[in-house]
Amino acid sequence: MSSIYIGLMSGTSLDGADICIVEFDENKIVSYQGKTFHFTKKLSEKLFELREKQLSLKSLGKIDKALGNFFSECILDFIQEFSLQNKNISAIGSSGLTIYHHPTGSNPFTIQIGDPNVISKKTKIDVISDFRRADIALNGEGAPLTPAFHKWYFGNEDKTRIILNLGGIANITIIDPKKNIVGLDTGPANTLIDNWSRKIWNIPFDKDGQLAKQGKISSSLLNLLTSDKYFLRKPPKSTGTEYFNLDWLYHYLNQLDFDIENKDILRTLTQLTVLTIKNSIESVIPEPCEIIICGGGVSNLFLIEQLKNQLPRHEIHSSQRYNLDPNLVESIAFAWLAKQRINKIPSNEPLVTGADRKTILGSIHSK
Ligand SMILES: Nc1ncnc2c1ncn2[C@@H]1O[C@H](COP(=O)(O)OP(=O)(O)OP(=O)(O)O)[C@@H](O)[C@H]1O
Ligand SMILES: [Mg+2]
Repeated sequence: MSSIYIGLMSGTSLDGADICIVEFDENKIVSYQGKTFHFTKKLSEKLFELREKQLSLKSLGKIDKALGNFFSECILDFIQEFSLQNKNISAIGSSGLTIYHHPTGSNPFTIQIGDPNVISKKTKIDVISDFRRADIALNGEGAPLTPAFHKWYFGNEDKTRIILNLGGIANITIIDPKKNIVGLDTGPANTLIDNWSRKIWNIPFDKDGQLAKQGKISSSLLNLLTSDKYFLRKPPKSTGTEYFNLDWLYHYLNQLDFDIENKDILRTLTQLTVLTIKNSIESVIPEPCEIIICGGGVSNLFLIEQLKNQLPRHEIHSSQRYNLDPNLVESIAFAWLAKQRINKIPSNEPLVTGADRKTILGSIHSK
C-alpha cells in the first residue's frame, strides 16, 4: 500500500525551507515534488541575529513561534500550488531549524526551533518533529540522521557508494555492502563560505564559486585551519554553526602575522571544505568509489570542480542520476523519517551517531 508524506528541511545555511511531498510504497519512492521557500527578509535577519548574538529567552520564544508560522504558511501554499488533499497526507516530517547543537560533554543537547504544534494545528496534518533528542538521550550525537535514508534509497548490493551532502555543514554516508555503515559530519560545506561572502561583499553566497575562483589558496592559513581538533577527531562526530563560524575563522587568522586578501581567504575556505571532505572519505575508505552529491553546494561549480581535482579516481555525480533532485534529498529524508515514526520503525543508526541502541525517532504533534 502506498502512503504520502510531506518533508520539511530547514538547514544551517539559513536560506529557507525545502518542502516536498513524497509517495512511498513499501520499498521505493513512487513519486515526489518539491520546492524551496526562502525566508522573508525580516525572518532571515532575526535568525541571523539569533545565531550571531546572544538574544534573550523571550526573543527565542518569539522566533520559535514566528518560524512555526512561516513553516505552516509555506506548507499551506505548497498544498495549494500542487493541489494536494490534506486527508491523503499521513504526516509532515519537520526537521526544525537547529540553532544550537552541542552533542558532547556533560549534559549534551541539541535545540531545534519552528514550533511543530503551530504547524500541525494550522495545516490540520499530524507533524513529526524533535527527531534528534531520543538519540542524544541514548548517548548518541543526534546527527547525522539521514544515513538510514541514504542506505534505504542508495544502498547497492555490489557497489560501495558515498552520499555527500553539501549543506551549511558537509556530511557523508559510506555504504559498503560488505561493511557497517559509516556516517559523519566532515566539517563546514557552505557555512564559512557564506558567512565570509556576507561579511565582505554583503551577498548571501559565492554564486557558482566565482569569487573563490579569482583567489589564491593561502597555504599558511589552510594548514592552520585543517589542524583544528574537530578534523582530527574520529567518528562518531557531528557539528554545527555554533562551532564553525567567523569567530572560529578569526581565531586562526589572528595567529598569522600578515594580511590575506579577502578573495584569497574565500578561496582558502573553499579548499578547506574540499580537503576536509577528501580526508574524511580517505580515512574511512582508501579505494576509489562512487560519490553521489546533494545539497545546495552542488551548485557551487568551482567547489565541485576542486572536489573532482582532489578525488580524481572517484566517480562523482549528482543525486539527479538516481532521480533525486539534489536540493530535495534532505527534505525527502525527513518525509521518510516521518514515515518510519508513524510505522514505529527505529531510524537512527547507532554506528553513525554512537547511540547505545536503535530507537524510534520523532515526537508526534496531532492535528
Ligand atoms: N549557485 C550557487 N553557487 C554557490 N553556492 C550555492 C548556489 N546555490 C546554493 N548554494 C549554496 O547552498 C546553500 C544552501 O544549501 P542547502 O539548502 O543544502 O543547505 P542547508 O539549508 O544548510 O541544509 P543542511 O541542513 O543540509 O546543511 C547556500 O547557502 C549556498 O551556500
Ligand atoms: Mg537550505
